Amino acid sequence: MIDFFYSEPMNTLSQDLYHFLVHYIGDRPDQRITFAEYMDWVLYHPQFGYYNNPTDSIGMEGDFFTSPHLGTDFAELLADCFWQMWQQLDRPDSFDLIELGAGQGLIAQDVLNYVNHRYPSFFTALNYHILEQSQSFLKRQRNYLYPWQTAGKLSWLTWDDLQPNSLVGCLFSNEFFDALPVHRLCWHQGQWQEIYVTVNAVHPDSAFQEIRDRPSDPRLAEYFDWVGIDVHRQNYSDRYCTEVNLKALASMERIAQSLKRGFILTLDYGYPASQYYHPQREQGTLQCYYHHRRHDDPYAYLGEQDITAHVDMTALERTGQEAGLETCLLTQQGLFLMALGLGDRLSQNNQHSQGSVMETLQRRESLHQLINPLGLGGFYVLVQGKEAKLDLPMPDPIQMV
Ligand SMILES: C[S@@+](CC[C@H](N)C(=O)[O-])C[C@H]1O[C@@H](n2cnc3c(N)ncnc32)[C@H](O)[C@@H]1O
Repeated sequence: MIDFFYSEPMNTLSQDLYHFLVHYIGDRPDQRITFAEYMDWVLYHPQFGYYNNPTDSIGMEGDFFTSPHLGTDFAELLADCFWQMWQQLDRPDSFDLIELGAGQGLIAQDVLNYVNHRYPSFFTALNYHILEQSQSFLKRQRNYLYPWQTAGKLSWLTWDDLQPNSLVGCLFSNEFFDALPVHRLCWHQGQWQEIYVTVNAVHPDSAFQEIRDRPSDPRLAEYFDWVGIDVHRQNYSDRYCTEVNLKALASMERIAQSLKRGFILTLDYGYPASQYYHPQREQGTLQCYYHHRRHDDPYAYLGEQDITAHVDMTALERTGQEAGLETCLLTQQGLFLMALGLGDRLSQNNQHSQGSVMETLQRRESLHQLINPLGLGGFYVLVQGKEAKLDLPMPDPIQMV
């Protein structure tokens, strides 16, 4: 089956990316690439990809915003969690904290500031590292976080720096896994087909076509069994399409293997596999964001829009288990942040705020947004440990009023 897609009028960067893709796809043996490869190029092409675009992609001025854009509370609560992890590991002299996909570096700035003032002994042990692929974000991070680098508290790593069994501390990420390229699969007469992208032969100047064919990688069809989904008992319709994120598994495996002792903390939007691959979720979870508008056309605004898919939390959990990690916690962001003291911050803000009425109201609104179960509060939080446990007293589910 072939579908046609037409994109919007293109700016110069989009045109450059389009011409690159036309040549790149044309040079492939079958003149097609998997959707995952397409998504990888449009997001991460070193010059024209969305995440290397010089304009702001994340934040109120960009296309979407993330928890650290709501003020310093989010990162400070995470810092309280890192401090607890350090305690649980018996306060090692050196604690490596590695952030995957740090974006503008907001969390790093707020964590380092807060730990410096609040937990001096932990600060002495703390070594913050960032693992970032986007050249554009790397540049911003290096400017913004320069004082911490010169103070010897922060450095940048590459994936190759992650040696097996080498780290004591925590590897963490916020909205990293959802930004990785996904394979798209469709159910057709009792079998999986994969979506490939080719150049539109009818209107070669305007767009791409989707083609469906056998999966490009045997791991794709095996995946469902592995996460506990019996595809033949699910009654998927012939309209059913979904995603599989092999890169997320490879990344999780890599970070899990690099851990000698400590934790992996993942915050992201997603579902356990049973919900992700529910037969009623016929169109999968792929979404695009352009100027805070959500839509479902990954071929529009080439290199100018974010493309993202929910994360299969069961698959991350299982990958960690296979690499020797135990699940310490799988919960939702709202509950996790409440367990770390967000409720106290809320009541302190209401009763003893030092700022203006407007600042007090804004902070209250931000704290509510972080725990709203219909928004950021509904994100999943997965904590996995190697030779390490984390005991957080979890509160009851949150009711928003
Ligand atoms: C949606 S943004 C989230 C940014 C930030 N964590 C936040 O909460 O605002 C995804 C981040 O992951 C980075 N990223 C994507 N693939 C990566 C990879 N393979 N290695 C390192 N960073 C990556 C992107 O460049 C970007 O900084």
